[in-house]
Amino acid sequence: MKNLFFISVLLVFIFSSCGNNQPKNVATQTNETTSVDADLLKQAQTFFKALPATAEIADNKMTPEKVSLGKMLYYDSRLSKKGNNSCNSCHNLNTFGVDNEATSVGDEGKRGGRNSPTTLNAALHFLQFWDGRAKDVEEQAGMPIMNPVEMNIPSKVFLEKKLIGIDEYKKAFAAAFPESKSAVTYDNLQRAIGAFERTLITPSRFDHFLNGDSAALSTDEKKGLSTFIASGCTTCHTGMLLGGSMFQKFGLVNDYRPLTGSKVNDDGRKAVTKKDEDKDMFKVPSLRNIAKTNPYFHDGSVNDINKAVQIMAKTQLNKDLKDEEIKSIVSFLESLTGEVPADAKVAPKGMATK
Ligand code: HEC
Ligand code: HEC
Repeated sequence: MKNLFFISVLLVFIFSSCGNNQPKNVATQTNETTSVDADLLKQAQTFFKALPATAEIADNKMTPEKVSLGKMLYYDSRLSKKGNNSCNSCHNLNTFGVDNEATSVGDEGKRGGRNSPTTLNAALHFLQFWDGRAKDVEEQAGMPIMNPVEMNIPSKVFLEKKLIGIDEYKKAFAAAFPESKSAVTYDNLQRAIGAFERTLITPSRFDHFLNGDSAALSTDEKKGLSTFIASGCTTCHTGMLLGGSMFQKFGLVNDYRPLTGSKVNDDGRKAVTKKDEDKDMFKVPSLRNIAKTNPYFHDGSVNDINKAVQIMAKTQLNKDLKDEEIKSIVSFLESLTGEVPADAKVAPKGMATK
């Protein structure tokens, strides 16, 4: 009886693994398209990498208690002075980590000068912010809370006192930081939010493709990937995130302002380094989930993804792409839309998703 069971399990295994090895569209696939696909995959693998499961670092271990505290803090509007803003207000996890606004409204009802980038996969960026002024998501998490236009909390001590007065937080901080004597500190808050953000990784069909499943992308998307590479977008948009790994001048070849209609001048990285050569230098943004994170550019000046691609080609590469090339690149970019971890999208009890 037992043997029979093992044999049938073995048979099911053999049959199902045979099935998995079959290319999905074997009947229509010719040898020629297979080798073109193999070449494209090989080429893509030289520029890009599949996403890891998490962005954990040794310095901030992601225990379930820490991640769950970080999620609570991320959704909590008590982290802003008037209670109008949580991190999730501007980086809504139900809309791919953004608010889809050109610039965001802060706690006092005023707008900041830059577009909210997505928090999805942000932990994997080489630096944080459009101008790279924070080194990682932990350091970054402490900054909007005290930014007068964003969450407007007057001091670290002010927020620590507020959180110590909330029983739920006293318990959650103690569970997340068992080694700390008084666990409710601003530093621990930054670590907890950072640990939560390190879970916000969104693999997409493109990752399946990079891992060798050629059928994960449609013919149109593969053509778009080819065009993306052939046009030279990969000079800047490379790696795991198709971006997020360097600064580059926006308007490298042609000034962007007449094309985007940008009204406010933003010096970019120069504001941080005070060096003239850093004027108009911005972090090359990741293109993960780009079809969902409009409007585009540091000032949210362009809402249409086709127009954003056209402007990129002109300003960075001095190319006038044909409409069909733009359409093709955009169809590839759509394959970068990933899965937001389901649990991260559910607001903690008593907190709003917006
Ligand atoms: C009022 C809107 C607003 C709130 C609230 C807000 N942010 Fe942001 N966030 C922004 C904007 C705008 C930027 C870009 C600013 C810049 O680059 O100068 C940004 C940048 C970031 C980045 C950098 C991403 C990248 O691609 O470089 C991360 C990470 C981030 N925010 C996380 C958070 C967290 C965590 C909180 C809560 C503690 C938070 N934000 C609260 C608007 C907001
Ligand atoms: C020389 C470097 C460089 C090249 C080449 C380049 N980009 Fe970019 N890309 C950037 C920088 C820098 C930004 C950010 C500009 C800003 O808003 O300040 C950007 C922004 C973008 C955005 C908007 C992202 C967002 O989150 O708002 C898209 C879409 C984009 N690029 C697509 C492309 C495509 C498609 C190509 C090829 C046709 C390309 N890029 C070529 C550097 C480059």
